[in-house]
Amino acid sequence: MRELSLHILDAVQNSIEADANRIYVKIREDFGRDKLIIEIEDNGKGMTPEFLKEVLDPFKTTRKTRHVGLGLPLFSAAAKNCNGDFKITSKKDKGTKITATFQYSHIDRAPLGDIVSTILAILCSDKEIDLFYHHQVDNKKFEFNTQKLKKILGNIPLANINAIKWLKSYLKYNFKELYKNGGV
Ligand SMILES: Nc1ncnc2c1ncn2[C@@H]1O[C@H](COP(=O)(O)OP(=O)(O)OP(=O)(O)O)[C@@H](O)[C@H]1O
Ligand SMILES: [Mg+2]
Repeated sequence: MRELSLHILDAVQNSIEADANRIYVKIREDFGRDKLIIEIEDNGKGMTPEFLKEVLDPFKTTRKTRHVGLGLPLFSAAAKNCNGDFKITSKKDKGTKITATFQYSHIDRAPLGDIVSTILAILCSDKEIDLFYHHQVDNKKFEFNTQKLKKILGNIPLANINAIKWLKSYLKYNFKELYKNGGV
């Protein structure tokens, strides 16, 4: 079973390829409403309404000469198979927002997976991007963004091995806190 963090990584890679330099990842685990909501928003080059229609229709697009990947259709199918929903809004030259909703307790819902490695992989991408991460588990929140992080690190680049090691333990600690007293 695929981990949801891999879908997140796929979507963020799309954003990076679309030349976004601000990427927002928002995860909400809402036990009360039995929902898991994942949002990825970017300020990249966006899509035209015509393109957007095809992007979510793998049957239509695979029969055409234009290459359309499976990243978004697979993410969409994962959500819809879990009694959920998948929405994309996009504006040419403005940006794109994806919202995937899952029934939290659905038997086919994949686990969130290794979100720490996913964040580190995003931060180690070659492109100059700022990531804004927001994660809520019930009413506990964890937020961080690379703009603040870069200020703290000063001249040390984010990809510096010691910065990465520190960030890894910082993220691990915060996720543990987030899931204390319940959670996945
Ligand atoms: N955030 C985005 N901003 C702009 N265009 C996007 C964005 N996400 C997807 N697209 C467009 O939709 C296409 C299809 O995306 P999708 O993730 O389904 O496949 P892919 O990235 O082409 O290939 P794969 O994910 O299978 O490696 C992309 O090639 C890109 O043109
Ligand atoms: Mg993709």
